[in-house]
Amino acid sequence: MSQTDQHQPVSTKAMPGANETPAANSTGWIIFLFFMIGFVGSLLAGWILFPELLYSKKNQPIDFNHAIHLDQVDDGCESCHFFREDGTFAGMPGLDSCIDCHEEAQTDNPEEIKFVEEYVTQGIEVPWLNYSKQPDCVFFPHSAHVIGADMSCETCHGDIGNSEHTRVYEQNKLTGYSRDIWGHNIARLGKHKQGEPAPMKMNDCAKCHKKETGHKGACFQCHK
Ligand code: HEC
Ligand code: HEC
Ligand code: HEC
Ligand code: HEC
Ligand code: HEC
Repeated sequence: MSQTDQHQPVSTKAMPGANETPAANSTGWIIFLFFMIGFVGSLLAGWILFPELLYSKKNQPIDFNHAIHLDQVDDGCESCHFFREDGTFAGMPGLDSCIDCHEEAQTDNPEEIKFVEEYVTQGIEVPWLNYSKQPDCVFFPHSAHVIGADMSCETCHGDIGNSEHTRVYEQNKLTGYSRDIWGHNIARLGKHKQGEPAPMKMNDCAKCHKKETGHKGACFQCHK
C-alpha cells in the first residue's frame, strides 16, 4: 500500500472532535453540569437521608436525668451501677436502686409521676433500652475493664453522668444493632466526638486490646 492510499480515511475518522462547532462544545458542558448536580445531590442525599432511613427511633420509657441524680446519691455511679459479690456487673438499675427515694412522687415533674405510677407502685421494672447492647454471641466483662484495667466509664460511654435527658435510641433496621455500636459518624473517619460514646464494633474492641496488651486476643475471649 502506498502512503497516499491510507491518508484520506484516517484523517477524518481519528479526530471526530476536530471540526466540532462551539455550540456542540457547550452542550457537553451542560451535560457535565447536570451530571455534577445529580452526582453531588445524590451524595448529599445519601449522607443525610441514608441514616434517616437506616435507623428506626424510639424514646426511653422514662426521661431519666443523670446529672440531678448524681447530686442526690452518695456513691456516684456505683449507687446504681454496681458490681455484685460474684464480680458480675448489675448493669441497668432495677427498682431496688430507686425505691428508697421514690416510694411516692416528691415533685410534680411528670416524668417522676409517670415513673412512680406506672412502675414503682405496680412493681414493674422499667424496660430501659440499652444503647451499648452487643449481640448475644459477644462476652463483655465490665470487671476486667473497670476493676482489672482501672478504666473509667467515660472511656467507652462518654459523658453520660452530666446528661440531663436520655437520648433517642436508634436501631439499625438491617442488623438490629443499636446505632452506638457502629457509632454516630457514618463514615467512621477520624475520632468520635469528645464526650460521646465510643463506637464498639469488633475492630474497635480489638484495636484497644492490641494497644493495651500487644495482641488482639483469640476469638473465644470475646465469643463464648
Ligand atoms: C440514681 C441512679 C443512677 C446513677 C447514680 C447513675 N446512673 Fe447511669 N443509669 C441509670 C438509669 C435509670 C439508666 C437507664 C436510663 C438511661 O439510659 O439513662 C442508666 C443508664 C446508664 C448507662 C447507659 C448504658 C447504655 O449504653 O444504654 C450508662 C453508660 C450509665 N448509666 C453510666 C453511668 C455513669 C458513668 C454514672 C456516674 C457518673 C451513672 N450512670 C450514675 C441510673 C443511674
Ligand atoms: C437518693 C435519692 C434518689 C434515688 C436513689 C433516685 N432518685 Fe430519682 N429523684 C430524686 C430526687 C430528689 C428527684 C427530684 C429532683 C429535682 O427535681 O430536683 C428525682 C427525680 C427523678 C425523676 C424526674 C426527673 C428526671 O430524672 O427526669 C425521675 C424520672 C427519677 N427520679 C427516676 C429515678 C429512677 C429510675 C431511679 C433509680 C434508678 C431513681 N430516680 C433513684 C432522688 C432519687
Ligand atoms: C471498655 C469499655 C467499657 C467501659 C470502661 C465501661 N463499659 Fe459499660 N458497657 C460496655 C459495653 C461494650 C456494654 C454492652 C455489653 C453487652 O451488651 O454485653 C456496656 C453496657 C453497660 C450498661 C448496660 C448493661 C446492661 O446489660 O444492662 C451499663 C448500665 C453500663 N455499661 C455502665 C457502665 C458504667 C457505670 C461504667 C463505669 C463503672 C462502665 N459501663 C464502663 C463498655 C464499657
Ligand atoms: C479502650 C480499651 C478497650 C476497649 C474499647 C475494649 N477493651 Fe476489652 N480489655 C481492655 C483491657 C485493658 C483489658 C485487660 C487486659 C488484661 O487483663 O490482660 C481487657 C480485657 C477484656 C476481656 C477479658 C480478657 C481475659 O481473658 O481476662 C474481654 C473478654 C474483653 N476485654 C472483651 C472486650 C470486648 C468484647 C470489647 C468491645 C465490645 C472490649 N473488650 C473493648 C481494654 C479494652
Ligand atoms: C476483642 C473482642 C473480639 C474478638 C477477639 C473477636 N470478636 Fe468477633 N465480635 C466482637 C464484637 C464486639 C462483635 C459484635 C459487633 C460487630 O458486629 O462488630 C463481633 C461480631 C462477630 C461476628 C458477627 C456476629 C453477628 O451476630 O453479627 C462474627 C462472625 C465474629 N465476630 C467472628 C469472630 C472470629 C472468627 C474471631 C477470631 C478471629 C473474632 N470474632 C474475635 C468482638 C470480638
